[in-house]
Amino acid sequence: MKAIVLRELGGPEKLKLEEVADPRAEKGEVVVRLKAAALNHRDVFILQNLYPKIKLPAILGSDGAGVVESVGEGVDQSLVGREVVINPSLEWGDDERFQGPKYRILGMPEDGTFAEKIRISADNVLIKPAHLSFEEAAALPLAGLTAYRAVATRARVAAGETVLVTGVGGGVATFAVQIAKALGATVFVTSGSDEKIEKAKSAGAQGGANYKNPDWGKQIASMSDGGPDVVIDGAGGDALETSVKIIKPAGRIVFYGATSGLAKNLDLYRMFFKQATMMGTTMGSSREFASLIDLYHDKKIHPAVDQVFPLAEAAAAHRRMEEGAQFGKIVLGI
Ligand SMILES: NC(=O)c1ccc[n+]([C@@H]2O[C@H](COP(=O)([O-])OP(=O)(O)OC[C@H]3O[C@@H](n4cnc5c(N)ncnc54)[C@H](OP(=O)(O)O)[C@@H]3O)[C@@H](O)[C@H]2O)c1
Repeated sequence: MKAIVLRELGGPEKLKLEEVADPRAEKGEVVVRLKAAALNHRDVFILQNLYPKIKLPAILGSDGAGVVESVGEGVDQSLVGREVVINPSLEWGDDERFQGPKYRILGMPEDGTFAEKIRISADNVLIKPAHLSFEEAAALPLAGLTAYRAVATRARVAAGETVLVTGVGGGVATFAVQIAKALGATVFVTSGSDEKIEKAKSAGAQGGANYKNPDWGKQIASMSDGGPDVVIDGAGGDALETSVKIIKPAGRIVFYGATSGLAKNLDLYRMFFKQATMMGTTMGSSREFASLIDLYHDKKIHPAVDQVFPLAEAAAAHRRMEEGAQFGKIVLGI
């Protein structure tokens, strides 16, 4: 089969299409013929040597959707030919509250989805919702799961609440908007691009502010009746510091990343006086992945796909992610 193999770290040009051996399904596993894969910031961090425990050569890619081609011993034969979406959370463990010591993310060290085929535990494939194209289904897993746990499990967003999603151009953020909306919340966003704010509004956000304007916090507070009940953030830095200032009393701030660095000026006085809660979160369990798929199936939600590149152009796709020009997920069609 063909796969994008990373043999040395560096720029996107290191992602090269190669011929490699076809995978074989072992006991409890399936082989999926992939139809689409999607990029995550994780792939860029690995390329740039900004990720722990990198092992090369590697086939990157955590997100994928395709058709089950074969099954190993002990796996239901009727799975062959089914259209599936892959859960990239490997061995979350027994405790729903946090991932166990064996936890890994698909796509380095295990061979990932930037390939024509993948071998994966049968427990990690779920039937693809019929209303989703393969490209849309491949867009969902890693970022959708992260957003689901942040919004539904950690923040416990309820109908009627107001939610601020920062940096809406990000992969996780676009899913956080959709999930919070589906749970009945009113959603506000920030972005460094007015165009992305407009796109978010047409995707259901009530309003937004440009974080390049130093008054963005005041703007969000005035449009959200004094401030949001919940903030979902992946930026850190000023985004978290300002969120503490504008969050409503008893508000929850959930963060899943720190793209713009540490928050060195958190106003702790305001936090305790407001009875505010700040929570870290990461990816999610198999139970949460199944709930995410059910939600997208039941509400017929379509993930935002930014652009689809052919597998052979994985380097160009990574360049687009490095530039940060995307709205929604960057996908590889296979
Ligand atoms: N914990 C986990 O399980 C998990 C999972 C996935 C991702 N992450 C982390 O979450 C972060 C985002 O990941 P992603 O894949 O969603 O990345 P992404 O698609 O590349 O998005 C990054 C976004 O950050 C926003 N941003 C940059 N500076 C900002 C600021 N000062 N204030 C607010 N927003 C700002 C930008 O939004 P605009 O384009 O709208 O300006 C940008 O699009 C990364 O750090 C990633 O490592 C963590």
